[in-house]
Amino acid sequence: MAALDGRPLTGGMAENTRNTTVWVSGATGRTGSRVAQAARAAGLTVRAGSRAEGFDWEDASTWAGALRGADAAYLVYPTDVGSPAATEAIGALAREAVGLGVRRLVLLSSRGEERARPTEEALKASGADWTIVRAAWFAQNFSEGPLVEGLRHGELVFPAGEVREPFIDVRDIADVVVAVLTAGDRYAGQELAVSGPRLLTFREAVAEIAEATGGELTYTPVTARRYGDDLAGFGVPPEEVEFLVDLFESLLDGRNSYLSDGVRQILGRAPRDFTDFAREAAAAGTWKA
Ligand SMILES: NC(=O)c1ccc[n+]([C@@H]2O[C@H](COP(=O)([O-])OP(=O)(O)OC[C@H]3O[C@@H](n4cnc5c(N)ncnc54)[C@H](OP(=O)(O)O)[C@@H]3O)[C@@H](O)[C@H]2O)c1
Repeated sequence: MAALDGRPLTGGMAENTRNTTVWVSGATGRTGSRVAQAARAAGLTVRAGSRAEGFDWEDASTWAGALRGADAAYLVYPTDVGSPAATEAIGALAREAVGLGVRRLVLLSSRGEERARPTEEALKASGADWTIVRAAWFAQNFSEGPLVEGLRHGELVFPAGEVREPFIDVRDIADVVVAVLTAGDRYAGQELAVSGPRLLTFREAVAEIAEATGGELTYTPVTARRYGDDLAGFGVPPEEVEFLVDLFESLLDGRNSYLSDGVRQILGRAPRDFTDFAREAAAAGTWKA
């Protein structure tokens, strides 16, 4: 169980949160599924938000039904928090949530992504008791999502050069989100930056995965433009390709090559290490062709 400032969560805190219902968007995704799991473990009542549950970010008429009666919400916008669509939708949903009495809102944002700031501002302007969790690059990008296929076939082609990133395990993001949700107003009005414990290049990360799987793996850095051309070849729409090319060019330029200590500050323990992530995912057969 998570601890705050090194103190174990007490029965009293669990008591306080027992009647709290949290609506978790992206509940089938990388972070949302772990937030839902960690919230249940902490004694919160979880209401899952995804299209299968009738919630659609692109259809505002589905929002009130999803939110009504909840006390708090975890907001994660699909694909990227820095897209103009995210800014509009997060702002509008946050205002609607506040109108329905769902005041405690926690947004997943991105460390170092300037284009995410308007989305964060839209949340702040909603009148909510907000907390923003700015995360580093996820370790699970290597195990869940578009990078997996390449790794299964022995090569990761990616526009990250030799930049160093402090990959964070999404389970740590979930633990931080749940600690925030169970701490009353303690983190309201705060931006929290979270990263893993170590800087690694993508080449080093791929080498760790190779070590864990016992297989041969290569990392091939390419330009963001070349990567975008490949995405377009796989049928990714042109506007999404342009957005991702811009995003990777800016985000993977070294600006995020530093550690943030949010996990230790909030949970009172070190973040999970990439080596452990790689070993566990390899043992689960994630990268078997
Ligand atoms: N990847 C990183 O390294 C990183 C780092 C920092 C921040 N971020 C931010 O993290 C966010 C992505 O989070 P994630 O990786 O946890 O998500 P994810 O795994 O990509 O999952 C996306 C979730 O959104 C749901 N979804 C997709 N389209 C939807 C729609 N139209 N309406 C309702 N739900 C929809 C999906 O559920 P269904 O398909 O079941 O509906 C799924 O649960 C982005 O905002 C990104 O900017 C990412």
